[in-house]
Amino acid sequence: MRTPTTNAALTTWVEKMERLCTPDKVVWCDGSQEEYDAICQEMVDAGTFIRLNPEKRPNSYLARSHPSDVGRVEDRTFICSVNKDDAGPTNNWAPPAEMRATLNGLFEGCMAGRTMYVIPFCMGPLGSPISKIGVQITDSPYVVTNMRIMTRMGQAVLDALGTDGSFIPCMHSVGAPLAPGQADVPWPCESDIKKKYIVHFPETYEIWSYGSGYGGNALLGKKCLALRIASVMARDEGWLAEHMLIMGIESPAGEKTYLGAAFPSACGKTNLAMLVPPKGFDGWKVSTVGDDIAWIKRGPEGELRAINPEAGFFGVAPGTNEKSNPMAVATIKSNTIYTNCALTDDGDIWWEGMTKEPPAHLIDWKGEDWTPDCGRPAAHPNARFTAPASQCPSIDPEWENPAGVPIAGFVFGGRMSKEMPLVYQSFNWSHGVYLAATMGSEATAAAIGVSAMRRDPMAMLPFCGYNMADYFTHWLNVGRRVSNPPRIFRVNWFRKDDEGNFMWPGFGQNMRVLKWIVDRVHGRGYAVESPIGWMPRHEDIEWAGLDFSPETFYQLMEVGREAGAKEAHAHEEQFDKFFDRLPKEFIFERELLRSRLWRSPDHWGLAHEDVVRPEAN
Ligand code: GTP
Ligand code: SPV
Ligand code: MN
Repeated sequence: MRTPTTNAALTTWVEKMERLCTPDKVVWCDGSQEEYDAICQEMVDAGTFIRLNPEKRPNSYLARSHPSDVGRVEDRTFICSVNKDDAGPTNNWAPPAEMRATLNGLFEGCMAGRTMYVIPFCMGPLGSPISKIGVQITDSPYVVTNMRIMTRMGQAVLDALGTDGSFIPCMHSVGAPLAPGQADVPWPCESDIKKKYIVHFPETYEIWSYGSGYGGNALLGKKCLALRIASVMARDEGWLAEHMLIMGIESPAGEKTYLGAAFPSACGKTNLAMLVPPKGFDGWKVSTVGDDIAWIKRGPEGELRAINPEAGFFGVAPGTNEKSNPMAVATIKSNTIYTNCALTDDGDIWWEGMTKEPPAHLIDWKGEDWTPDCGRPAAHPNARFTAPASQCPSIDPEWENPAGVPIAGFVFGGRMSKEMPLVYQSFNWSHGVYLAATMGSEATAAAIGVSAMRRDPMAMLPFCGYNMADYFTHWLNVGRRVSNPPRIFRVNWFRKDDEGNFMWPGFGQNMRVLKWIVDRVHGRGYAVESPIGWMPRHEDIEWAGLDFSPETFYQLMEVGREAGAKEAHAHEEQFDKFFDRLPKEFIFERELLRSRLWRSPDHWGLAHEDVVRPEAN
């Protein structure tokens, strides 16, 4: 095959990788529909893909991964900076030379019997000054088809790269070479977890991934490039790469406000990005720019502008239904790849929470017969859909604007069942960065081996490509350089009562919280000061269409002094890890928090009129 590029650095690298991995052949992906359809057909023939009923799910497929390969492997994810301290205490690290030797050993001959695909891709709209070009080499046709949905991929990217353009090399193998005559399996991967490696070299902007074919381990444009490597580039170049959805909120009067919102994996970004306003919000519109990643740069007027570097959604399937997320349901009607969902008898897919009544019979995500009484979930809890963003009915008209959209506020939230209020606002930028850096969340299914509550600063713990203390400093600096820094908020949709029920209805009803945030961003919403930040009173929230008593609301908003003091103490423990690199602003913020808590009665909350100081602000 003629090489479809004049970029010498690229052809040299591809030739070198071909010699290392010894595939049967090399295919340069052009990104066309014909190529996509042909690769899908090959996977159908090989048993990797099941073509779904074209009347129910046109041009859509189901893939079942190996049961050992169902999510990101954080234990096997490495940041290999020259200096260990540059990776920081929250990342796995190994000396780069040692890691290169390990990887060379693993990749040697690893594509025997397979096709090596070369995938040129662009994160962000082609031609945007914010976008970055990567080239992924992979031996997984599943990865090729997913990358075509998730990124701008193919010949147009090579054309944009030109002769001298630079790209981020992303090397990937499922780690399952075939001996001559050996039959392949539907989902090849390295099943020994200790031989899986997701490696980043931050100084040289390089990615090497071995042994997994799943999600963020294998679609290297997503977490590896757009977050871990991009966060390093962002530090070097003065911008932000964040684990954030981007949404637009339009009032009945036509005022448009964009927010960036960071939540850890499987904590509701896709849901929030596609929110449908509830009863009582006639004339309000919510639109989607992105559901997972935001690249944010200073615009010409000193404002912060964000793009979504992705072109598709790799969303959590279980729990998605007409009620919880109608926009996602519409988005995934066609041209979608489903991974680890259950198969119905009429060739459609199903997962827990799709319908109230489960079908009487299914084939589960492992390919086994399933009935409602069998005691196993039909879909894997981290089952996902891969669908083009352009198919989303709520997609924002500006979503591919190369200049991005202006961000007026940042929202941070985790999954906290206790002692974390529904919403509050930081006093200022530095306090807001502190709130974001100390956020925590309880376990979800998206990451393997994570349990209980963990601190997940800015929802970036698994995705920051450098020392997180330096990352906090970088955030503080960004706020100093913009003309009107976005307002910063903390939210928590997940508080539970003593019986373990969610106290807040969530989903579309989150609009009520967003409206207060929008009002605050524009300097007109009312709030009262509390020891932890500005808070709305019951009467400051729009309740039209929902019965929600002040009593329950104030329970949702309350924090006890003892719990607050414990929390401040836990921040101290969290910060100890960062030692001398921690920004000194954080010590001030913690002491200020302590003294504000000290001055407050044992239990404060907005129900206690004597505690609050309802000053206009
Ligand atoms: P990643 O793609 O892994 O980064 O995750 P995400 O943040 O996009 O997660 P997603 O939107 O797919 O959320 C998945 C889970 O959050 C599902 O279990 C939803 O039911 C739950 N969820 C989303 N919004 C809400 C909410 O407002 N309240 C409650 N209680 N659960 C919610
Ligand atoms: C996440 O875990 O935050 C995801 C899914 O968005 S994955 O792409 O697999 O990382
Ligand atoms: Mn994510």
